[in-house]
Amino acid sequence: MGRLQGKVAVITGAGSGIGRATALRFAEEGASVVVTDLYAESADKVAAEITDKGQSAIGLAVDVGVEDAIKGMIEQTVNHFGRIDILYNNAVNNNPERSRRDRDLLNFDAEIFEWTMRVNTLGGVLACKYALPHMLKQGGGAILFTSSTSASAGEVTAFSYGASKAAVNWYVKTIAATYGKQGIRCNGIIPGVIRTPSQRAWSNPDMDAAFLDIHNSTRLGEPEDIANMALFLASDEAAFVNGSLYQVDGGISCATPMVSVVRKLLV
Ligand SMILES: NC(=O)c1ccc[n+]([C@@H]2O[C@H](COP(=O)([O-])OP(=O)(O)OC[C@H]3O[C@@H](n4cnc5c(N)ncnc54)[C@H](O)[C@@H]3O)[C@@H](O)[C@H]2O)c1
Repeated sequence: MGRLQGKVAVITGAGSGIGRATALRFAEEGASVVVTDLYAESADKVAAEITDKGQSAIGLAVDVGVEDAIKGMIEQTVNHFGRIDILYNNAVNNNPERSRRDRDLLNFDAEIFEWTMRVNTLGGVLACKYALPHMLKQGGGAILFTSSTSASAGEVTAFSYGASKAAVNWYVKTIAATYGKQGIRCNGIIPGVIRTPSQRAWSNPDMDAAFLDIHNSTRLGEPEDIANMALFLASDEAAFVNGSLYQVDGGISCATPMVSVVRKLLV
């Protein structure tokens, strides 16, 4: 029997990268998956990958920057599959033009800040607002967010991104505290550098080599590394795990940044 047998999962930003890998992993373990993404084509393609294997999924176009779309996502999930057990808030504003306008504090752009917070933070919070009544009626549910290492320390760029993920961390703990007594668990995942399509688009081989240097691991992360943690947190194996933020980061955070310098001096 699969580790998510009989459960219904909704994943945002699941047309690519971490969300896609998680949708495939959840379906392999018996979940019915609502694959949602800004782009209908991406969502449908991942849903088809799942159903082609005889597993259960539907694809939905959902812009998590729009409250009515989020409300519709939860309504369609419940109408189609009858319940909702797992909500994974994973979508991110990955628009390159908008990201470019988030790089310079002296030209801080309020519109970019508001949009980034809307997609990366508010989208997940509103999805909880609409999913929680169903989960509470069922007597429980598992909520996940994808956070970032950018949330936990200072940055020299992406000034709205880090703030949006720091706010995500607060909501993880707050939702966990508010609804833990009613059987809801809410946890976050903090990935290291993960080789997803958007990471490949903004990085280059030199940057990847420098990133690997600060990971205390043999390689950078793959989307499946995050999907495996999401699977554990979504499953009943994590029944006593609530309000936690899990680093799946190849050991970036286990040592001081000096380690990558000292390691070279020791050779
Ligand atoms: N890849 C990394 O190195 C890394 C590191 C830390 C955190 N993360 C986090 O992991 C999550 C997934 O990132 P990824 O690297 O898999 O990215 P990705 O670009 O591969 O996937 C993101 C998906 O979100 C969708 N999306 C964009 N705007 C949306 C919107 N308004 N509504 C709904 N969907 C939307 C995109 O279409 C895309 O399919 C994000 O929350 C990101 O912040 C990634």
